[in-house]
Amino acid sequence: MSHKRLFIPGPTEAVPEVLGQQTQWLIGHRSKDYTALYTGIIDKLHQYFETRQHATVLTASGTIWMDITARNMVRKKALAGVCGAFSQRMANTIRDSGKEVTPLEVEWGKAIKPEMVLEELAKDDYDTVAVVHNETSTGVRNPIGEIGAAIKKEYPDVMFVVDAVSSAGGDHLVPENLNTDIIFASTQKCFALPPGLSIAFYSDEAVERARSVPGRGFYTDLIAIHDYYGKKQQNPTTPNISLMYALTYQLDRMLAEGAQARHQRHEAMAQYTRNWAAKDMEMFAEPGYESITVSTIANTQGRDIAGLNGELAKRGYQIANGYGAKLKEKTFRIGHMGEWTLDDVKSLLWHIDEIWRR
Ligand SMILES: Cc1ncc(COP(=O)(O)O)c(C=O)c1O
Repeated sequence: MSHKRLFIPGPTEAVPEVLGQQTQWLIGHRSKDYTALYTGIIDKLHQYFETRQHATVLTASGTIWMDITARNMVRKKALAGVCGAFSQRMANTIRDSGKEVTPLEVEWGKAIKPEMVLEELAKDDYDTVAVVHNETSTGVRNPIGEIGAAIKKEYPDVMFVVDAVSSAGGDHLVPENLNTDIIFASTQKCFALPPGLSIAFYSDEAVERARSVPGRGFYTDLIAIHDYYGKKQQNPTTPNISLMYALTYQLDRMLAEGAQARHQRHEAMAQYTRNWAAKDMEMFAEPGYESITVSTIANTQGRDIAGLNGELAKRGYQIANGYGAKLKEKTFRIGHMGEWTLDDVKSLLWHIDEIWRR
């Protein structure tokens, strides 16, 4: 298959040497070798995210953490910030697990603010708050640090869960600074790995909460995951060992670059894309809350986005149309995450300008 440079918000470009790690011989997942591989990964995650919280890697994409949240954190009632398609999925997952959830909805393109969360928390007896950090459909970056601080100051027993699927590993996030009890990501986004693993950090309080919540399932049981690591430093079920090889290798590359440097690289790509868009379009996200890993641009000139992607494909590039029926053709998205550099973004945007003859 021909190689298209993926400027979509995941999966994103994975470099050949990372992909190549997956061709190593398999090992038993109950062997000492696997324990060494997995504990090495956990160590590197602790280093990169500068955290002392518990870290885990599950063989499942990030969405599993919505089910884990619903089945382990929510005792009775959750408040879920809804500002786009992925945060809507979290609210639906909690509802569909038979727990109560109040969606705290804002217009798509707008951010969830701490005062909105506090206002809602004062109205009812909530035990969990879930907020997406980087809403990949709208390109909004919610102020989770401020939200976490506001919640924990007034409601220290409320669990704070953050979906950082499309930002962690690019946007630098330190769980302790954000007051998160669970924060999770998928490997195919800023980690620039194939899809199939999710990475999460969780607090002691999250463990305590989960122990008291019945009906956690098996694959989604945070206590099973936590206790198995405590006893055996392994996963409760058979992990994708090939992807673990790729992950350990990629974490070395990420540590060599440094979390701050990676953050700055993502910020520079986002800033350049915003300036480029401002020539005759607008960002979809409200000013001050734009994502640094994906730019959602309002198609104010009514250009043919599917047609643009067809032309880009001929040149070996791919971007993303707007998410779902609501935003398709009305917006388009440029994912600038993972491996991409400012020069890569400049070349992509040069090609788009050329196609549009801007
Ligand atoms: C913010 C956000 N949450 C959740 C998901 C779902 O992730 P996955 O498909 O890895 O389960 C995505 C995927 O794009 C996302 O962007």
